[in-house]
Amino acid sequence: MAETPSVAVPGDRSGRRRVLLIVAGGIAAYKAPELVRALIAAGCAVQVVLTPAARAFVSELSLAVVSTRPVRSSLLDPAEEGRVGHIELADWPDLVLVAPGTADLLARAAAGLADDLAATVLLATRAPVMWAPAMNTNMWQHPATQHNLATLRARGADFVGPDRGSLACGWIGEGRMIDPAQLVAAALERLDHLAQETASAGAWSGRRVVVSAGPTRTYIDQVRFIANASTGAMGFALAGAARALGADVTLVAGPVELATPPGVRRVDVETAAQMHAAIEAAIVEGPTDLVAMVAAVSDLDVDPVPDKLEKAALLPALAGLRWRVGVDILAALTARHTAADRPRFLGFAAQTVADGLDAQTVEAELLRLARLKLIAKRVDALFVNRVGVPGLGFASPTNAGYLLTRDPSGAIAVDPSGPPVAKDRLAGWLLARLSAALWPGASA
Ligand SMILES: Cc1cc2nc3c(=O)[nH]c(=O)nc-3n(C[C@H](O)[C@H](O)[C@H](O)COP(=O)(O)O)c2cc1C
Repeated sequence: MAETPSVAVPGDRSGRRRVLLIVAGGIAAYKAPELVRALIAAGCAVQVVLTPAARAFVSELSLAVVSTRPVRSSLLDPAEEGRVGHIELADWPDLVLVAPGTADLLARAAAGLADDLAATVLLATRAPVMWAPAMNTNMWQHPATQHNLATLRARGADFVGPDRGSLACGWIGEGRMIDPAQLVAAALERLDHLAQETASAGAWSGRRVVVSAGPTRTYIDQVRFIANASTGAMGFALAGAARALGADVTLVAGPVELATPPGVRRVDVETAAQMHAAIEAAIVEGPTDLVAMVAAVSDLDVDPVPDKLEKAALLPALAGLRWRVGVDILAALTARHTAADRPRFLGFAAQTVADGLDAQTVEAELLRLARLKLIAKRVDALFVNRVGVPGLGFASPTNAGYLLTRDPSGAIAVDPSGPPVAKDRLAGWLLARLSAALWPGASA
């Protein structure tokens, strides 16, 4: 997780939450003064940066007055760069808000360009970035824009809107900037999440965490196996995030193409039995605080035939195999470790839900299945997400779902993670929520 930037621009000593508002050159820039006022009313300090195009759409003077700060728009500015002002700006905010986000600025940010002050700040900042795109429907739906959106989202940016409605260009459709009040609510929610993550960071320092990730393989013969679509990204993100918060992390990884997060001890396995054994070994090695079973363990088991089957022998040989349901590693772990000082267990459940249902029914169905799993597997927490829809689950850079936690009395609390976000972002959110639920009172 990114450290909270600590450099303050002169004059900002109030402790208010710092929002750097980038206004790009779209017609919705006329809403920027209203947005600034709403952010300030909500207790934020706001620094406005305009793209050169935005200056044609909204008055710099108005924005300076409502934000009570000089507006910045020039990169090569001798008055500011004596103290490397563009980096000072990038280091300042708790949150960067881009509203309106134009197709052009989305493209420049996705390409990593730094050709004006706004793009340079977006490249240099370590603060989270929230975009409120606004543009003509066709521009929004263009594959280039959607590709840029996906790139930025996978890098951790949030997107709010756009809404549907009548657009300044005369089209009716998707592309309107989200209403400033809703945008402020989303920004405040994001800032609250960040504050919770910061507050819970100390709770992870020195804890022993075991994370499993990726698929496992069930071999049929010497070269053929059954596996699943898990890429390991969620487990690796969780392991990296826990390590970044100071936990001692062992990552038991199925076959995946991912680099080990820095400082994480990695044990590579291939089959479910190897994964089970490696997790048990990590648990008995020392007192373990949390076992996070993120891996998608193959549920089919079979004794493989010894050699490589020839094609002609394949079908009869497969028909003769005696398939079994594989061991449920998580259920086996919770059945075995029952002492009061046992590790806490977090399960992950990827669920499909029938198409065509309304959002409320989908949520109810996901939560019904999740509650059943939480109880059946005797885990302390379970994260459930839908699979088979864009933006969620296996092989997607983003994910979203619900975290269910169970307190000692058996009461189950449900926390929605919100819209899909990059998996490392989701990992930070999960750790903050988990520590609050599992070890209330432990904090920074
Ligand atoms: C009247 C007018 C309205 C525009 N509105 C938008 C818009 O809503 N969204 C958008 O992405 N581009 C819009 N554009 C195009 C941008 O102004 C143009 O792509 C510009 O290069 C954006 O620069 P920037 O991203 O650096 O701010 C508009 C252009 C004009 C002339």
